[in-house]
Amino acid sequence: MKYLKQLFVAFCLLIISVARADEGMWLPLLLEKLNEQHMKSLGMKISAKDIYNINSGSLKDAIVSFGGFCTGEVISSKGLVLTNHHCGFDAVQNHSTLEHNYIKDGFWAKNYSEEIPNQGLFVTFIVRIEDVSKQALQGVTAAMSETERQSTIDKNIAELRKNVKKESYQDSFVRGFFEGNQYYLFVTETYRDVRLVGAPPSAIGNFGKDTDNWIWPRHTGDFSMFRIYAGKDNKPAAYSADNVPYVPKKSLSISLDGVTEGDFTMVFGFPGRTMEYLHSAAVDQTVRVSDPTKIAIRDKALAVIDGFMRKDEQIKIQYASKYAGISNSWKKWQGEVLGLTKTNAVAKKQAYEAEFQKRVNANPQWKTKYGSLLSDLAAAYKELEPYSLARDYINEVVSRIELFTIIAQINSLNNAMEKNGEKGFNESLPRVKERLEDLYKEYNPEVDKKLFAALIEIFVTGQNNYFISAELVKAAKDHNMDFGKLADEIYNSTDLDDATKTMEMLDQNPKQLVETAKQSKASSLYADIINAYVDKVQGEYTDVQNRINQLQRTYMQAQMDVFKEKKFYPDANSTMRVTYGKVKGYEPRDAVKYEYYTYLDGVMEKYVPGDYEFDVPEKLRELYKSKDYGQYGNNGKMPVCFIAMNHTTGGNSGSPALDAYGNLVGLNFDRAWEGTMSDINYDPSICRNIMVDVRYVLFIIDKYAGAGHLVQEMKLVHPKKK
Ligand code: ARG
Ligand code: ASP
Repeated sequence: MKYLKQLFVAFCLLIISVARADEGMWLPLLLEKLNEQHMKSLGMKISAKDIYNINSGSLKDAIVSFGGFCTGEVISSKGLVLTNHHCGFDAVQNHSTLEHNYIKDGFWAKNYSEEIPNQGLFVTFIVRIEDVSKQALQGVTAAMSETERQSTIDKNIAELRKNVKKESYQDSFVRGFFEGNQYYLFVTETYRDVRLVGAPPSAIGNFGKDTDNWIWPRHTGDFSMFRIYAGKDNKPAAYSADNVPYVPKKSLSISLDGVTEGDFTMVFGFPGRTMEYLHSAAVDQTVRVSDPTKIAIRDKALAVIDGFMRKDEQIKIQYASKYAGISNSWKKWQGEVLGLTKTNAVAKKQAYEAEFQKRVNANPQWKTKYGSLLSDLAAAYKELEPYSLARDYINEVVSRIELFTIIAQINSLNNAMEKNGEKGFNESLPRVKERLEDLYKEYNPEVDKKLFAALIEIFVTGQNNYFISAELVKAAKDHNMDFGKLADEIYNSTDLDDATKTMEMLDQNPKQLVETAKQSKASSLYADIINAYVDKVQGEYTDVQNRINQLQRTYMQAQMDVFKEKKFYPDANSTMRVTYGKVKGYEPRDAVKYEYYTYLDGVMEKYVPGDYEFDVPEKLRELYKSKDYGQYGNNGKMPVCFIAMNHTTGGNSGSPALDAYGNLVGLNFDRAWEGTMSDINYDPSICRNIMVDVRYVLFIIDKYAGAGHLVQEMKLVHPKKK
């Protein structure tokens, strides 16, 4: 029986490693060694050198990190950049007014002079990637504490960066991979004059809004367009009216032929963060504790904000972006719990660990080095659990209450005064003013007070009182657990929730403001909550987490030693990666099968006249009626979105989806609901990334917006009609 069990586990593992062929976010410089053969077997027609080559223009030279949070790609020889609507949204929002509501109506520059500069927005190219593990880890020993280790590495990296071969206008950074077992250097070029060229109306760019978010089938034209400007020498330059459109080393050709089921695709971009090599105890904690807690707290926050947004147009505008942000992760975590549960992720990890332990035990050397790793990790995670929970509460509650954020800003003035006197105070003042001005633009004191009441209630009643400030627990009891009353008292104790009064005071008598603020009940409560956290959670949390980091690092190396037959890819860390996989539908539940393509017909099926999420602009309805799709249609239909098995995560938004020849076929923007757990446990049966078909993008630009001059700039190709 025991033997049979082992055989079964071994068999499962075999299935996992064979079926997981599409998993992975690979470093472009290692494709030739690790992936090229596999990519070709899946249908890729170009070589790894066409993707990453530091000696001549390759695909990587057309890919940018967009503002550090999304991905973009260059699609014309004049520096035109394509990214998602939700990635360019801030820029569009910043230029919108009631008369020129670009969010509602869309925006299209008719010529260069109408393209709008965006302060603070930048794009970064990757010039070169190098393995610098040896230099970075020089002098590091196993006996070092995490802090010692980090400071040695920091020194090594500083030294290394001083001697990096690069041009004066280029930058460099070094980042840890595989939990700090390896280090890579990135030489980069950042352009800071990036102008808005166009965006469709939200009814197209964010069609389906929160209801459709994380959902397949999808019908969203999630794209916007920018242009990179450079100095006359084509080098990075600060914004100037004299700057000229950037001439790229490489721009993507655009395929008008689309893809069909089984076709090879790859997605090239900057995925943010994944945790694929966790111990089963950590995955279990995510499913059982962390995700449910964060979801429950956000339930409360969303209910409050939604209640106000539905009644008040002004609040709707002010809170739309915040609401979308809170809702985005809230919804993702629900999908994650569902997927991890449904695919038995914890049991799978346990089976993997059993096999790991078996191999370790059979090898005396490994047994000494790695023998107790798994049990140590399990014990450490158990120890971490209460502190990690308390941390989730602080993050989800305290940082959501904006009165606390305001107090923290005012406190920072006080701290600057204490540290550097008058000079420090005066230096900090403009920054604080600017931050508060931004905050107040999207702030309503009534909403904030209601948020306080709802969130502080769950903060006090939801967790062990040991971790909470004694003052808060007492205040709650004194108010008979009526958190609305407590909120009244706290918000009455200060004027900081009044934008006009606070900004006036900051102008006229900032020191007085700091003094008055200090005296308020709101400030003292905030200080107490933070102090309790610092006293009872932060130290312990950091200690255990440091220990876990050390163990995870060893566990990572151990997995690579023990499972020699497996190819490992590093967790996402906002560095450039390539992921690839076939176009494919999926079957999420019994008797349910999803196709891999959606069409404009589906937009019309979802159409609800005048609806906040599902309205369809008149012009688009007309184009649908007349089937005026031009060169972008396919057999009389207009393709909109498609899915594939590419392993993506947050930060991959805006990433190009490329066909077997490296032509642009789509724009990545989301993942399907059942597979959002791919950050922790990629499962090829249900993990799908969602892309908008580039033909829909071009159709909207050309036929809908009448901005065909932009399409003229691009190189359109027909790889399937060769
Ligand atoms: N789920 C997408 C990603 O995580 C965001 C899509 C933005 N659209 C929206 N309706 N919130 O960022
Ligand atoms: N929507 C995500 C992004 O904005 C992509 C994802 O999480 O799949 O990067």
